[in-house]
Amino acid sequence: MITLAHIQEVRSRIAAARSEGKSIGFVPTMGYLHDGHCSLLRKAKQEHGFVVLSIFVNPTQFAPTEDLDRYPRDLERDSRNAEAAGCDLIFVPSVAEMYPQGYSSYVTVEGLSSVLEGEFRPEHFRGVTTVVMKLMNIVQADTTYFGQKDAQQSIIIKKMAADLNLPGRIDIVPTVREADGLAMSSRNVYLTPEQRSNAPVLHRSLQLAQQLTRSGERDPQVIIEAMRSLIQQHAPTQIDYIRIVGASDLQERTVLVTGETVLIPLAVRFGTTRLIDNIVITI
Ligand code: PAF
Repeated sequence: MITLAHIQEVRSRIAAARSEGKSIGFVPTMGYLHDGHCSLLRKAKQEHGFVVLSIFVNPTQFAPTEDLDRYPRDLERDSRNAEAAGCDLIFVPSVAEMYPQGYSSYVTVEGLSSVLEGEFRPEHFRGVTTVVMKLMNIVQADTTYFGQKDAQQSIIIKKMAADLNLPGRIDIVPTVREADGLAMSSRNVYLTPEQRSNAPVLHRSLQLAQQLTRSGERDPQVIIEAMRSLIQQHAPTQIDYIRIVGASDLQERTVLVTGETVLIPLAVRFGTTRLIDNIVITI
């Protein structure tokens, strides 16, 4: 496995892999890898001859008040985990490599980027789609892998790829959870022991929503209130949102219709740590 910091070197190494007849799988990340990231790498390795991982804590997707500076970083540990999961090349660009002086181009997916997370993080998805577009252009993979935990991000990236005719496939891989149900996230390290013991309630509330729909509940407000009241019992600092939306248009549903697939995303703060999770349910 090699680690490269410059775009030109990455392009040359990937061209060499292609000339050896290898297809390319790509996993973009911000590093501090957990088993969720490693599951993307393992899947990429099963499906492709050459696997590229990018590690870049992308400043354009953080608001000035957010955790850009303290976002966890550990390149040594990431390298070991990436290699064990089948990675062939890690791309670790600097901020100047990705956004050189005078940089001025941004990609925005309108509509989908301003709801849910977008209501709380207005510039976030513009930063995500811009950096993902750049990384996908650099790597030009046959398949690029993202995690279902960031459901809205995945939907927006798929829309960007379709609207802008990006070549290659996008694969959304199921969320990997801790034994107690907490979705794996690099930000889980911020949780105090008490917050960590309360956080699995998010997954339990999503399971509760699923049970309610299975037992015939069709009123989104009843489901949301049941989820809210369960979460409230576990000392959240703030529930930013719990919504029931169409799984591809992200528009809120006022009634659940049999056969429709909905996404139930939520964002909850424990102290200063903001956790997101979701479930997709076909009614
Ligand atoms: O999901 C992430 O880790 C980031 O948003 C991504 C897709 C790597 C873009 O910076």
